[in-house]
Amino acid sequence: MFICQVTGGSSGIGKCVAITAARNGAHVTIIARDVQKLEVAKNEIIRACKNKDTQKVEYLSLDISQDYNAVEKALSDLEKTMGPIYMLVNCAGTAICGKIEDTSVADLKKMIDINFMGSYYCIKAVVQKMKSSQEGIIVLTSSQAALLGIFGYSAYCSTKFALRGLAESISMELAPYNISVTLSLPPDTDTPGFATEGLSKPLETKLISETSALVSPEVVANKLFKDALAGKFFSTVGTEGFMLTVLCCGMSPFSSIKELLVQSMLMGVFRLVSACYLVHFQKIIRNCMKTRDRNKKSE
Ligand SMILES: NC(=O)c1ccc[n+]([C@@H]2O[C@H](COP(=O)([O-])OP(=O)(O)OC[C@H]3O[C@@H](n4cnc5c(N)ncnc54)[C@H](OP(=O)(O)O)[C@@H]3O)[C@@H](O)[C@H]2O)c1
Repeated sequence: MFICQVTGGSSGIGKCVAITAARNGAHVTIIARDVQKLEVAKNEIIRACKNKDTQKVEYLSLDISQDYNAVEKALSDLEKTMGPIYMLVNCAGTAICGKIEDTSVADLKKMIDINFMGSYYCIKAVVQKMKSSQEGIIVLTSSQAALLGIFGYSAYCSTKFALRGLAESISMELAPYNISVTLSLPPDTDTPGFATEGLSKPLETKLISETSALVSPEVVANKLFKDALAGKFFSTVGTEGFMLTVLCCGMSPFSSIKELLVQSMLMGVFRLVSACYLVHFQKIIRNCMKTRDRNKKSE
């Protein structure tokens, strides 16, 4: 029975990962800021436990984005009561949309702090102990928007692209210590966070986003958990996620010769398919611009 610690575990994808871990018999700790949401999520996770008498479920109210020393101390204190972390799932994150000229510097900094710095801090805080015990799993929850830039996501995409760099670097550093790294790349997922994100979406972003289906957080969480246990680097859902990872695999780690061969064979064809998507997205953007111009003229 191992310990699974999930940041952002009180809502959306993170909560579903915590429930999946509990169903699979793990001890679970969830981290977020709002204590009321944490309490509710804790009860849901307890209900999902495989062995309610032996499994431990705890929560920690912590802002992971502000102060590295505070994060390190809180995680170290938590380890004293729960035991050493085997699986760290970084799920806390936020998305605020807007064209670059409409994105405030405060919102940009908020996303950098929560999405990137928060994950970096939590990983940095636990990695030395994982290295000493020569085992562990680290998951970073990025986004499909880490593999392609999208209208209205200049700040969000930047933070999610950064997580890929972090994941590839630590994967190389930690492989000799039997610690695997998984980069989860969810598509649009039906969560409270997604609903909030919708409030700031420009029309172009909304229309581009609607070209793909919305998936459930349970599907993303189950796939993330399974891929992480299998030691896979990329964790995706659906055909588009698969196509994107093949297209953008570059120098990313590979898990098997089969995966390497599939990527090598499909890359060229998928590049042609991606061109169709890009042309379609450009068309959406031009149409929105034309409609706006027409509306302005008729005013
Ligand atoms: N939903 C999607 O369509 C989608 C698509 C691709 C990627 N993702 C990524 O998947 C992850 C989860 O997304 P979601 O939609 O499930 O989000 P969500 O429903 O908004 O949940 C976010 C979680 O993160 C916690 N959190 C936020 N800021 C925090 C901070 N500073 N310190 C500690 N905890 C914090 C929140 O709790 P508190 O507010 O109480 O702290 C909450 O538990 C995010 O990284 C997101 O970028 C989501």
